Amino acid sequence: MAVRFDKVAIIGTGHVGATAAYAMMLRGLFTQIMLIDADGLRAQAEALDIADANALARPAHVLRGDYRDAGDAAIVVITAGATTHGEESRLSVAGRSAAIVADCARRVVEAGFGGVMIVASNPVDAMAQVAQRASDLPVGQVIGTGTLLDSARFRRRLADRLGVAPVSVEGQVLGEHGDSEVAVFSGVRIGGVTLDQFRGGAVLDRAELAHETMRAGYAINYGKGHTSYGVATAIVRLCEAVRRDEQVVLPVSTLAHGECGVAGVYLSLPCVIGAQGVSRVLVPDLDAEERAALLASAAVLQGIMDGLD
Ligand code: LAC
Repeated sequence: MAVRFDKVAIIGTGHVGATAAYAMMLRGLFTQIMLIDADGLRAQAEALDIADANALARPAHVLRGDYRDAGDAAIVVITAGATTHGEESRLSVAGRSAAIVADCARRVVEAGFGGVMIVASNPVDAMAQVAQRASDLPVGQVIGTGTLLDSARFRRRLADRLGVAPVSVEGQVLGEHGDSEVAVFSGVRIGGVTLDQFRGGAVLDRAELAHETMRAGYAINYGKGHTSYGVATAIVRLCEAVRRDEQVVLPVSTLAHGECGVAGVYLSLPCVIGAQGVSRVLVPDLDAEERAALLASAAVLQGIMDGLD
């Protein structure tokens, strides 16, 4: 099937899917944005609302679709799945989400899809792995949004404390998008300067900052019952990297093949991303504590995958 590089299909039009569609439309990334949802009325309503907004933006077709419409899309985004409430961890909804995500991935491939699949459904690492298995697409073509969002949260919090712009802070969170995630302080650079050098010896409470970053999703959930803008923006950023064949390095969820001693499980590592999805996984230079934490995070995710099998 001839791929339409200007077309994206979003499966799941809840808060995250609809916000991602809206942000993509505003950014002018695609000329066709198809919204697919088990609740057809909902998909239709979101498509109409965003299409109306589009009359004031760069022209694009925003339409309700079905799985057939995903076949020739360059990118499919899966946001469908079970949602978490209050203190429910992302991992606690794994079983319910897995059935939904596997079904979506299978149906997309049955429609002839052969592009890049971006998975945002939680728990995202396990769900990206479920989608890869169900779709049988090459591993590099199935990407979880992973800790792209947590890394943004980390950089913003560091930036606030350091008094510089987030864009000037290089820093990553790796591992699970969730409670066992690893904030990589050893790799933080501000204009090439390490955190300790930048602070000139002044103490920064790293544990508190990492905890705040990890808890960010919960904090937002308490106030509004879901999170949307952060993860939707991570989706859009990933779509942009694929659409423009950027070869940009972003921390996203992919299948580890022995990097830092982790193998056989999806988790976030720095990845080179372009039109074919992940073309290379980098091995981050971690200190001993971070490496141990990454292995522990991988073990948590392996446990979830074992539980799903
Ligand atoms: C969050 C959701 C996407 O952290 O897990 O906002």
